[in-house]
Amino acid sequence: MAKDPHLTSKRKKEHIELCLNEDVGFKNKTNGFDKYEFIHNAVTEINYEEIDLSTKFFGSKISLPFLISCMTGGTIEAQSINANLATAANEIGIPIGVGSQRQALENSKYHISYKIIRKNAPDVPVLGNIGAAQAADKNNLDKIQMLIDLIEADALVIHLNPLQELIQKNGEPDFSGLLKNIEKIAKKIKLPIIAKEVGSGINKSSARKLLEVGVRGIDVAGAGGTSWSGVEYLRNKDSINQFWDWGLPTTYCIKDVNKLKKSNYFTLIASGGISSGEEIAKAIALGADLTASARPVLKEISVNGIEGVKYLINSWFDTVKKIMYLTGVNNIDELKKIKLLRKEELY
Ligand SMILES: Cc1cc2nc3c(=O)[nH]c(=O)nc-3n(C[C@H](O)[C@H](O)[C@H](O)COP(=O)(O)O)c2cc1C
Repeated sequence: MAKDPHLTSKRKKEHIELCLNEDVGFKNKTNGFDKYEFIHNAVTEINYEEIDLSTKFFGSKISLPFLISCMTGGTIEAQSINANLATAANEIGIPIGVGSQRQALENSKYHISYKIIRKNAPDVPVLGNIGAAQAADKNNLDKIQMLIDLIEADALVIHLNPLQELIQKNGEPDFSGLLKNIEKIAKKIKLPIIAKEVGSGINKSSARKLLEVGVRGIDVAGAGGTSWSGVEYLRNKDSINQFWDWGLPTTYCIKDVNKLKKSNYFTLIASGGISSGEEIAKAIALGADLTASARPVLKEISVNGIEGVKYLINSWFDTVKKIMYLTGVNNIDELKKIKLLRKEELY
């Protein structure tokens, strides 16, 4: 039977609606940041005004160690969301990802919903995005450059979402040949590849396999934030939802993947339920180079627009800056080196 050409676009619209209107967070599992505490430094010798929050993203200077996670595209609703997110990212000076470009492989009807990101964010890194199922399909190998060109991408994100594909009606849980194909893509394109989960987390052994085939960035996208099996259960109107809370918490993934830093050079991105400056600072202290967030930013753009997102992210980093002062560090490289206490050590 021929595929419904509107199916992908309809799914994208439903994803946005559910993420905005339903409680699709993890129910009984946190991302883990609540288990840690900062070590207060009473003899800080930092000049608060001189604290530097800037960092590098694959060689480009960015204002904050933060990016707006890949979310949407390929449906009419995505166009204004992406336009506004991109404007906010450009004005703050941080990278932004586009949502899965799968729909752009199917037809050109909604290409503008992706292109608008580069148009409105000319000065910051923009990340392309394809799913593991599309990356594993060798027929797509030649089409990936078209997706990169569409948004003049600076990096390509491949999202690994086995749980989502499993639960999704008409999902595509055939990932056979995935690593080999990622290796081919990495050789073919001239951009860094970032592999990310969508909320179940990437651990050290998965990350190692990805680095071995040429991936240069790992976004752990751990458990504790948005549950994508939850979103798909709601779409299916299923009453059974035994995998709602499946996955490795974000903090566990950051610490585990960080162990690979000793022998590998790569960018470690922490995401999965990040929604405060405290969580951002803890993620970096646990070893992340950058942090990222999706649904909290989507909610903010839909309610308070560009100014709301700028205020939200800047207020998170106002907190990060205060934490840096109180822990006695001047810049992001120093923040990476501070130790955190586990809460049980305090009492
Ligand atoms: C509406 C929406 C659509 C998403 N679509 C994609 C996508 O197309 N590709 C992708 O890699 N991740 C996608 N994600 C997943 C996010 O990038 C992120 O990994 C996940 O939501 C966990 O982060 P969070 O807890 O900050 O939301 C989407 C998230 C949202 C909220």
